[in-house]
Amino acid sequence: MHVLKEWFKLLFYRKSKTEIQSLEEQLSNPKGVEGIKLGHTMYASNLGMIRSSINRLNLKGNDVVLELGHGNCHHLNYIEEKVQDIDFHGLEISDVMHKEAKQFQSKLKITFKLYDGTIIPYQDLYFDKLMTVNTIYFWEDPSKLLQEIDRVLKVKGVFVLTFVAKDFMKKLPFVGDRFALYDIANIEKLIERTNLQITKVEEKVERVKNKLNVLVDREYLIIKMIKN
Ligand SMILES: C[S@@+](CC[C@H](N)C(=O)[O-])C[C@H]1O[C@@H](n2cnc3c(N)ncnc32)[C@H](O)[C@@H]1O
Repeated sequence: MHVLKEWFKLLFYRKSKTEIQSLEEQLSNPKGVEGIKLGHTMYASNLGMIRSSINRLNLKGNDVVLELGHGNCHHLNYIEEKVQDIDFHGLEISDVMHKEAKQFQSKLKITFKLYDGTIIPYQDLYFDKLMTVNTIYFWEDPSKLLQEIDRVLKVKGVFVLTFVAKDFMKKLPFVGDRFALYDIANIEKLIERTNLQITKVEEKVERVKNKLNVLVDREYLIIKMIKN
């Protein structure tokens, strides 16, 4: 049955297994010219998720904000329309995405850095707000990174975690071993030993073209947390 399903996916999406594996690898850490192209595709297909996450931050003047895994970060435009006097920081593990983001023109005060994907290179209680979209699947040590998020957030700071839910992800052809999949219960368990508390969970659906150019109704979660 499993083999049949795999075969159907490959036929349906008209991609070879190698192409699908390479897409999976690129999504987790975009590299080279292909990585730059993928940065644009991701931006286009994930813009709804990204904008919804930015909206949930309720940005205000003087906020110090961190985004983990910002991709090419062309959504700085959208942030700029809302608020100009924030201090925005972005961390990436992908050298290519880091460089693409740095080249993007913006009037905001911005700092982009590369990091190891687990230890956030900032002091305790540094940020008012923190967001990440479509990155949790690739975190090497999710418990540790959530502890780090807890550490760098100020008390009453806001964390918005956005990702496509496990049940939907399972059906995607390019989702294999590189992806770890989550639902709400998994996140509740992971934050047990932090000061983070979930204040709102939104389950959303939007029609988008996926990375393989096929229209899908994507189900995703926006989890808003506060640090106590
Ligand atoms: C699927 S892309 C999503 C990009 C963008 N956030 C979006 O939703 O379009 C995943 C991004 O997360 C980055 N990434 C993977 N693991 C990460 C980690 N532990 N911390 C920060 N970024 C990470 C990758 O380099 C890649 O740019």
